[in-house]
Amino acid sequence: MIDSPFEKASSQSVRILGIETSCDETATAVVENGQKILSNVVASQIDVHAQYGGVFPEVASREHVKVIYAVVDQALKQAHIELSEIDAIAVTRGPGLAGSLVVGMNMAKGLALGANIPLLGINHLEGHLYSAWIKPDDIEKYEEPLFPLVALIVSGGHSLLMLMESHLKYQRLGSTLDDAAGEAFDKVARLLNLPYPGGPSIQKAADLGNPYAYTFPRARLEGTWNFSFSGLKTAVLRTVKELGSHGGDLPVNNLAASFQTAVVDALVTKTFEAAEQFHARDIVVAGGVSANRALRKAFTDQKRFVVHIPPFSLCTDNAVMIATAGYYRYQSGQRDGLEMDVYPNWPLS
Ligand SMILES: Nc1ncnc2c1ncn2[C@@H]1O[C@H](COP(=O)(O)OP(=O)(O)OP(=O)(O)O)[C@@H](O)[C@H]1O
Ligand SMILES: [Mg+2]
Repeated sequence: MIDSPFEKASSQSVRILGIETSCDETATAVVENGQKILSNVVASQIDVHAQYGGVFPEVASREHVKVIYAVVDQALKQAHIELSEIDAIAVTRGPGLAGSLVVGMNMAKGLALGANIPLLGINHLEGHLYSAWIKPDDIEKYEEPLFPLVALIVSGGHSLLMLMESHLKYQRLGSTLDDAAGEAFDKVARLLNLPYPGGPSIQKAADLGNPYAYTFPRARLEGTWNFSFSGLKTAVLRTVKELGSHGGDLPVNNLAASFQTAVVDALVTKTFEAAEQFHARDIVVAGGVSANRALRKAFTDQKRFVVHIPPFSLCTDNAVMIATAGYYRYQSGQRDGLEMDVYPNWPLS
């Protein structure tokens, strides 16, 4: 049985050019029929922002301006395709940094107007979710997520638990009351003097540490599907101060491993509880934090649910996910006009 309400274009391929500039990655991609990656270009600004310990918004938008034309050109060349062969342009409309979003939006509008191609504004979080529908090269192993499903989006700015009954239909179950999961990784990395971006740095240190060295709190928030990471962050801060007052080197690896275990535990426990309560068939986990190996292991080391997590390269920001979400939006009939504005605080539901 096919759950998708959308007919896959069988006789004619639908090729979407995706453009993503919501934060510090200038990304473009061409995706065929929402599944096959024809090109994937990411110009990262990580080195530029590392000196500030986080993303500097004005610098981010100006860096996008410098490379946006080149990365669009590269995506078309890598896909061996002309702009005239593109069926629609999908661009991130929000959420994200306004000045950064505007760069991608204006590029998309210029291309759409110049080549008379339909334009689609895409929610960045929908993009993260739809990265679970992209077919990896290793097609044998691919299984399409089945509805109803529970989706956990864990990224730099969001921790969202959603129920999806069908394509493009979302019911928000819960979100974070304070820090997003990725934000917590980034803040704790700073506390431990680990380099930006914090997630990969914590993971690296955690690989060398004891996850049970410290017992950090997991906010249960009984009766809700919300998360909270500020208490955990404060507990790490308190422990760091206490250890610092005794002198000597900070046990960074043990602190990182114990923190990571607490975050993973909170995310995994709530997601499985929701999947059971809402009789989900499958689970989808997406967003930058889904690149975390401990999180991936905790989700896949069980047999109750099939858990779909994008390949590592598609967890953090990219334009393949925007083109893929764009395919489903295109098939649903969405078309946006040239008056479309960016929407920096656009909620997914
Ligand atoms: N291996 C990892 N372990 C834990 N966190 C990670 C890992 N890799 C990346 N991250 C975290 O993922 C976040 C970046 O993800 P992403 O690019 O999706 O966020 P964003 O686009 O800035 O935010 P949003 O998608 O909410 O707008 C950062 O907070 C980063 O620390
Ligand atoms: Mg993101």
